[in-house]
Amino acid sequence: MQKICVCGAGTMGSGIAQSMAQNGFSTILFDLNASVIQQAKINIEKNLQGLVEKNKINPQQKNAITEKLYFTSDINDCKADIIVEAIIEVETAKTDLFNRLASINQTETIFATNTSSLSVTAIAKKIIHSERVVGMHFFNPATIMKLVEVVVTDETNENTRSTIVELARKLNKTPVLCKDAPGFIVNHVARPYYIEALRLIEEGISDFETIDKMMENSGFKMGPFRLMDLIGNDINYAVSNSVYEAMGKPKRLKPSPIQEEKVLKKELGRKTGKGYYEYESGE
Ligand SMILES: NC(=O)c1ccc[n+]([C@@H]2O[C@H](COP(=O)([O-])OP(=O)(O)OC[C@H]3O[C@@H](n4cnc5c(N)ncnc54)[C@H](O)[C@@H]3O)[C@@H](O)[C@H]2O)c1
Repeated sequence: MQKICVCGAGTMGSGIAQSMAQNGFSTILFDLNASVIQQAKINIEKNLQGLVEKNKINPQQKNAITEKLYFTSDINDCKADIIVEAIIEVETAKTDLFNRLASINQTETIFATNTSSLSVTAIAKKIIHSERVVGMHFFNPATIMKLVEVVVTDETNENTRSTIVELARKLNKTPVLCKDAPGFIVNHVARPYYIEALRLIEEGISDFETIDKMMENSGFKMGPFRLMDLIGNDINYAVSNSVYEAMGKPKRLKPSPIQEEKVLKKELGRKTGKGYYEYESGE
């Protein structure tokens, strides 16, 4: 079985690493920030204990999963067959990380990015052996959501594509091949869901709780504001900007000043305990 390294231990990275370990992969979880790594370790332990209590796994299985995970804040530990990055949504941060890792890994190591909206082609172009760069876009929460968009570029080779599709299947996910386009499929279609809801607030037509209630009552699983809080308002704002720029700045997709305000106030959603709503820790 391939060795996996997940970079970034925030909302997505810790869930992706847990999924990998639960499905038998030896997994390194790396974050620049040692306190984030500590928190990810606590969260994964808590999640696994929850699965034991629900009789979904037994204590021996829990121990076996825990043993598959190695937590680190030292980049030199990041040697693997497949690297999945889930760090901040900034292209230069992702390419700098991949290039650092390319210098300490073999040329066959696959580099998968969990970017929600950045061009995988643009990232690949800056990495040596760009044919091994691919998008592997998980959904939040990564331990639960089945969909994985596998984003190939014109340069992605067959081995990279098939390895990542196969990896997603081994994680009991449903891989869907996507072309590299702004927001791929889901984030492209979903963008107006957030932006139009924010416009209603900007224009004083409604408030966020009413909008959420109405959308949920009309059949959507989560209203736009509850969903933005789950995603992280910083990530959602970065994705909004990135799709807006990549689509040639159409007025209808212009990010909202409310999103910027949330980021400046560090009201990022569940991960900071406050976004549009307030959360108990761990909620
Ligand atoms: N939040 C979502 O719903 C969601 C869904 C799918 C994809 N994504 C994508 O996943 C990525 C991560 O999103 P998130 O919500 O987990 O963000 P997050 O803010 O929760 O976590 C990002 C983590 O990356 C770490 N980090 C930053 N730079 C680093 C570096 N150079 N090396 C190692 N670690 C670094 C930070 O310390 C932080 O812990 C983004 O690209 C985002 O677009 C997010």
